[in-house]
Amino acid sequence: MQLTGRRTVITGASRGIGRAMALEFAKAGATVVAVARDADRLAALVEEINSEQGPVATFHTCDVTDPEEVDRVFGQIVEDGPVDVLVNNAGGNTFSVPLVSMRADGWAKVQRLNVESVVWITQRVLPAMVAAGRGSVINVSSVAGLQGVPLMSHYSAAKAAVISITQSVALETAYAGIRVNALVPGWIETDLTGHLRASGDAEAAILSRVPMQRWGTAAEIAKAALFLASDDSSFMTGQVLVVDGGISVMP
Ligand SMILES: NC(=O)c1ccc[n+]([C@@H]2O[C@H](COP(=O)([O-])OP(=O)(O)OC[C@H]3O[C@@H](n4cnc5c(N)ncnc54)[C@H](OP(=O)(O)O)[C@@H]3O)[C@@H](O)[C@H]2O)c1
Repeated sequence: MQLTGRRTVITGASRGIGRAMALEFAKAGATVVAVARDADRLAALVEEINSEQGPVATFHTCDVTDPEEVDRVFGQIVEDGPVDVLVNNAGGNTFSVPLVSMRADGWAKVQRLNVESVVWITQRVLPAMVAAGRGSVINVSSVAGLQGVPLMSHYSAAKAAVISITQSVALETAYAGIRVNALVPGWIETDLTGHLRASGDAEAAILSRVPMQRWGTAAEIAKAALFLASDDSSFMTGQVLVVDGGISVMP
């Protein structure tokens, strides 16, 4: 029960990796505030957690790309009680295009979801963490943020920015007992990658580049998040934890 008594806030908790984190954190004794846009899915998650762990989970709907909504929702979350763990997990990408054909609105949309949301949410939550003198922030990046990805410069740049922001904020807040780390998943079996599994050719191409020759699961990423959230990683800040079946060390 590494998170007993800890209040954790997870964005993108309605599906995929964020949902798995919410379940894992609750099992580890945390209270969970789940955030995403889909109220029905969030309500189902909260019901599932609370039926197993007692009344430890609640949810807020929020479009994390809307700074005013972020200000209102995360202002309320901070007012409701101390935040021990913040996971900036909401993110993703829905298109592939060469940089030369990139439209300004497409670029901006991906930066808003993957980068700006991290900035606005962290700004809203950090001051209370600093005042409390403790906290763990986990920013979900991607192997796409560690290397170039053809047709995905928008997403790759966004996830690289998440790592860079993580390192800077870690340096800004280490004095106050706050730890800020990036979690870097490889190819994980979620809705985000469902279209790739639906195409045999795409899946074969992907798995041929994964030394472990399989998709990772959301639960495997949640275990790594639990480590970063808990005191088990008490001397880690500004770090990048890669959970990718070996892709990033392929020659
Ligand atoms: N799956 C992978 O292979 C993989 C690999 C590397 C990194 N990642 C990263 O891991 C994170 C989670 O990915 P996933 O695979 O779990 O994706 P997913 O299954 O598509 O889930 C994305 C989550 O983000 C939420 N979300 C999306 N847009 C949002 C918005 N504007 N406001 C609030 N919430 C929003 C979604 O909830 P609602 O639709 O309810 O809002 C959902 O809960 C992302 O940052 C992704 O970039 C994933």
